[in-house]
Amino acid sequence: KMIKQLLISIVCGAAMLTVGILIGHYGITNAPSWVKDVVRDVDESLIEKFLSEVDNIQIQENLKELTKVPHMATTAGDEQTVQLMLKRWQDPESGLDQAWREEYLVYLSFPDPKNPNKVTVVSPSETVLHTAREKEKSYTPDQDDPAVVQPYAAYSPAGHQRGRLVYANQGKPSDYLLLNQTVDLKGTIAITRYGGAGRAAKAINAAPYGVIGVLVYTDPLDINDGLMSDANETYPHSWYMPPSGVERGSFNTHYGDMLTPYLAAKEETYRIPVEDITGIPPIPIQPIGFEDAYILICELGGEAAPKEWQGAFNCTYNFGGPGFKPTSAFNNRLLYKFHFNVVNFYPHLQFRSAIQINNIKILNDVKLDIFNHEKIKNSSNVMGVIKGSVEPDRYVIYGNHRDSWVHGAIDPSSGTSVMLELTRVLGKMVKQGKWRPRRSIIFGSWGAEEFGLIGSAEYTEQYFTKLSERTIAYINVDIAVFANATLRASGMPSVQNVIFKAAKQVNAAGLESTSVYDNWIKYSNRTSPAHGTIPRMGYLSGAGSDYAAFVHYLGITAMDISYTYDRSKTNARIYPAYHTAYDTFDYASKFIDPGFVSHQAIARTAGNVLIRLADSLVLPLNCSDYAEILEDYLKTAVNLYQNQLQVKHISMGKHPLKRAVASFRSAATHLDQVILSSDLANETPLKVRRINDQLMLLDRAFLNPLAFPDKYAFRHVIWASSSAGKPTFPGLADAYAKAESSGQPRDWDKVHYHLSVLSQAIEGAANTLVDVI
Ligand SMILES: *[C@@H]1O[C@H](CO)[C@@H](O)[C@H](O)[C@H]1NC(C)=O
Ligand SMILES: *[C@@H]1O[C@H](CO)[C@@H](O)[C@H](O)[C@H]1NC(C)=O
Ligand SMILES: *[C@@H]1O[C@H](CO)[C@@H](O)[C@H](O)[C@H]1NC(C)=O
Ligand SMILES: *[C@@H]1O[C@H](CO)[C@@H](O)[C@H](O)[C@H]1NC(C)=O
Ligand SMILES: *[C@@H]1O[C@H](CO)[C@@H](O)[C@H](O)[C@H]1NC(C)=O
Ligand SMILES: *[C@@H]1O[C@H](CO)[C@@H](O)[C@H](O)[C@H]1NC(C)=O
Ligand SMILES: *[C@@H]1O[C@H](CO)[C@@H](O)[C@H](O)[C@H]1NC(C)=O
Ligand SMILES: [Zn+2]
Repeated sequence: KMIKQLLISIVCGAAMLTVGILIGHYGITNAPSWVKDVVRDVDESLIEKFLSEVDNIQIQENLKELTKVPHMATTAGDEQTVQLMLKRWQDPESGLDQAWREEYLVYLSFPDPKNPNKVTVVSPSETVLHTAREKEKSYTPDQDDPAVVQPYAAYSPAGHQRGRLVYANQGKPSDYLLLNQTVDLKGTIAITRYGGAGRAAKAINAAPYGVIGVLVYTDPLDINDGLMSDANETYPHSWYMPPSGVERGSFNTHYGDMLTPYLAAKEETYRIPVEDITGIPPIPIQPIGFEDAYILICELGGEAAPKEWQGAFNCTYNFGGPGFKPTSAFNNRLLYKFHFNVVNFYPHLQFRSAIQINNIKILNDVKLDIFNHEKIKNSSNVMGVIKGSVEPDRYVIYGNHRDSWVHGAIDPSSGTSVMLELTRVLGKMVKQGKWRPRRSIIFGSWGAEEFGLIGSAEYTEQYFTKLSERTIAYINVDIAVFANATLRASGMPSVQNVIFKAAKQVNAAGLESTSVYDNWIKYSNRTSPAHGTIPRMGYLSGAGSDYAAFVHYLGITAMDISYTYDRSKTNARIYPAYHTAYDTFDYASKFIDPGFVSHQAIARTAGNVLIRLADSLVLPLNCSDYAEILEDYLKTAVNLYQNQLQVKHISMGKHPLKRAVASFRSAATHLDQVILSSDLANETPLKVRRINDQLMLLDRAFLNPLAFPDKYAFRHVIWASSSAGKPTFPGLADAYAKAESSGQPRDWDKVHYHLSVLSQAIEGAANTLVDVI
């Protein structure tokens, strides 16, 4: 009996084995080899390996190398960084599949080293009573490098202007409006502080009042938490800006090369006449340090400026007489000199000259001698790719600019040193045959960002169609580390999920057992109806870095990732050495990120996001999270505008906008259900490709080239820049603010028009998420 059972078992076993072998055999030989590849999903062990290989010391060494010399766009230092990127990305052991440079001939603006820009206080007889510093004071040998560019305002016109000084706060339209109520601004020079308005706007807003020149400085209140002394308070004693530090910058309004709007700036490309450029200063403007601003502002006469206009100096900020106060040291000094001259040359006219002195005394001027010149120069992007194995025609793009104003240790080299570490680790895995991403990864080291996001904008213009059709997402890591407290991430709501997932897997900088995510939520959070308390992500509404062309022009899902401040510890507008000669390796390694552990946390987090976007079978983009933000925007819009619009016979009650947001929500829920109820690894690969295309193209659906006729290259109706400062749809908020202030029926019509633009875009996006037909 036992034997019989045993025999049956053996026979059954053998039969099953045979069947198994046959199934296995035919299964294996019948399924084509691509099946295994096509269903491949992200490999968590590979991510673990990646995270463990990202090395803080390598990042530190990258930064040292990148910041050896100043590398302003198109200079010899810039060329050195081009060569460095090419060398690293073409390295046979740790490079990418391919790397190359692409050049654009772009319109730039430089000061003249032989004729430095000058800011002086002069008497009517041209006696110079004070000269502002032309060059920042040096504390380390870095500042003595002859390639350190003099502080200047790129795209300020050249010119020689003299006039009485006035203080115009931040140079906002409201600031000049108020100032013009008490001071005659015709022929004056206005001194403004950074913040509140764009750089170019400070001069553009001034010109209609007859202001003929503008100065701009950084008030210690806005950057240094009020500290000013370089004896013991500012760099090199801390991260604060020294008194002679000056923020350089591009003084323009539109991004991309200004002579070739919407066209890639190649040699043969049509260029508009220089006179047709808009959005640049119509009058000369020059930045100065707060040490000089102190001397000028504290001598101003006239009425005291309002409380909100006061900064950190230990004097009252007056509007200006216009000009200096009668008791000013400048005026007293003039009195002696002038008196001396008069007595020498006209001894018989002493009485009359005394009267003239009294008149002239208050006419001491500030003089701007600006020698900036524009130049068309070749600027390079360095591009590198890792070719995808399964879907090579789908791109995940990761980028940062390469050019700086001076040594640029934080801006942009913190981001570039992180990017080089990512490409080293990923490149090595590719070269060793251990990994090849499902989709292609494109790395961009953009040129001439500081002059107006030029390299990235030209790239998107040149490859417009290809990028629109094939790009999954763009990741921007420019300044990787503003400060060492917490992660900061901005982007489309659909990327929230993948950033959270990545941040949960990385240790927070300097904290062994806390994740980047758990640390982040402590500093910045919000309550989400779907997720409860979660870290708060920002939005990419402006054009602050190279994500602008991807978001606003192409409608590509994008994100910007960095480490940033503990806001309870500082009110600094930005890290204090921003765009100064003090943004050096010494500064970064001593005061921003000693040990480079925050850089490491950013490399791990951003790299993790990159791998997930490139390798996931289903794209980790969540359209329901997008719906949540649209609902939030709608709620705010209804609260702010519904009643007033009713009065204007524009009903939001049953408006198509409400229906559109509701359609978007239900379409998103539906797509989520399709994704979650499918076994995509075992269904036709065409299905996952179809869903992924829906997710990839979602942001493209929000584009409307006619939505913002007054804004250059802003086409994404949800994330455009806005001056209204309301947390809702930007075009609606701006149109409403304009109509409210003008009261014109035509402006209320424009509100109505924009409501229709929005409804159609959101309804259109919803239509792309539902099933075909
Ligand atoms: C400035 O004020 C003067 C005098 O009140 C006024 O005539 C002028 O229109 C104002 N300028 C602007 C640009 O508003
Ligand atoms: C710097 O020195 C001055 C004068 O000695 C002192 O008043 C100030 O508190 C010091 N600042 C710091 C941050 O120690
Ligand atoms: C204001 O500060 C400067 C140094 O920044 C100092 O020389 C001056 O004495 C101070 N003036 C007053 C009125 O406190
Ligand atoms: C710019 O670079 C191209 C090569 O990409 C070269 O042919 C051209 O001569 C350069 N032009 C200038 C003005 O340097
Ligand atoms: C949310 O942020 C606040 C500070 O804005 C903080 O006090 C609170 O603890 C945070 N919540 C969580 C769950 O970390
Ligand atoms: C940030 O850096 C400062 C030194 O500049 C250090 O005192 C602090 O502990 C660091 N914070 C974190 C979270 O690493
Ligand atoms: C997207 O996020 C929502 C919450 O907003 C969640 O319910 C849903 O499952 C997510 N979708 C996918 C495909 O994971
Ligand atoms: Zn930057």
